[in-house]
Amino acid sequence: MKREIEVFDYAGEILRALPTGILVVTQAEECVNAMTIGWGTLGIEWSTKIFTIYIRESRFTYELLERSGEFVISVPYGDQYASKAKKAIGICGSRSGRDNDKIAQAGLTIVDADIVQPPALKELPLTLECRVVFSQQQPIKEISSRFKKFYPTDAEGIGDPHVAYYGEIVKSYIIE
Ligand SMILES: Cc1cc2nc3c(=O)[nH]c(=O)nc-3n(C[C@H](O)[C@H](O)[C@H](O)COP(=O)(O)O)c2cc1C
Repeated sequence: MKREIEVFDYAGEILRALPTGILVVTQAEECVNAMTIGWGTLGIEWSTKIFTIYIRESRFTYELLERSGEFVISVPYGDQYASKAKKAIGICGSRSGRDNDKIAQAGLTIVDADIVQPPALKELPLTLECRVVFSQQQPIKEISSRFKKFYPTDAEGIGDPHVAYYGEIVKSYIIE
C-alpha cells in the first residue's frame, strides 16, 4: 500500500539521508537501474515542487535519464528494511548498471510507480516520482575553485561534469 504524503513534511528525513546515500531509479525501455546519490536539492521553482539531482556524464544513469526524462527517488525510512537499504546503497554506489543488474544483486523489490515509468523500491519506502522539466550541464570552469577537488581530470585533461536534472515531483508517498 502507498500512503501519499506532503513531501515537504518529510524534507528533514530526505535531506538528512542524503549524505550517506539515497537511490535514484531510472528506466529506458526494459532496462531498470538504481544508483546511489549523495547530492540533491528539494525546493520550489516555477511554483512547482522540484527535486534536483546531479549526475556525472560518465554514469549509466545519465544515459538512461537522457533517454527517458523520468526518475524515482527512493529514501531509506523506518527500521524494517534499514540493513537491506544500507547494503543496497553500497552496491548501487559502487557498480555500474552497464554490466550489473544492481536491483537483483541488492535483493530489492520493485513496486510499480503510479505516474512515471521507473519503479519504486519496497525496501527504500519514502518515494518521490519525478519528471524532468529542465536539465543543464554544469561547466567545470564556472564552478568555484573551492570545489575543483570534485573534478579531477583524466590523462587528456578532461573532467567529468555533473548534469543537474530538475524533476517535478509528480507524486510522493511511503510504501507500507
Ligand atoms: C554515498 C554516495 C553518493 C554518491 N553520489 C553521487 C551523486 O550525487 N552523483 C553522481 O553522479 N554519482 C554519485 N555517486 C557515485 C555513483 O553512485 C556510482 O558511480 C555508481 O556506480 C554509478 O552507477 P551507474 O553507472 O549504474 O549509473 C555516489 C556514490 C556514493 C557511494
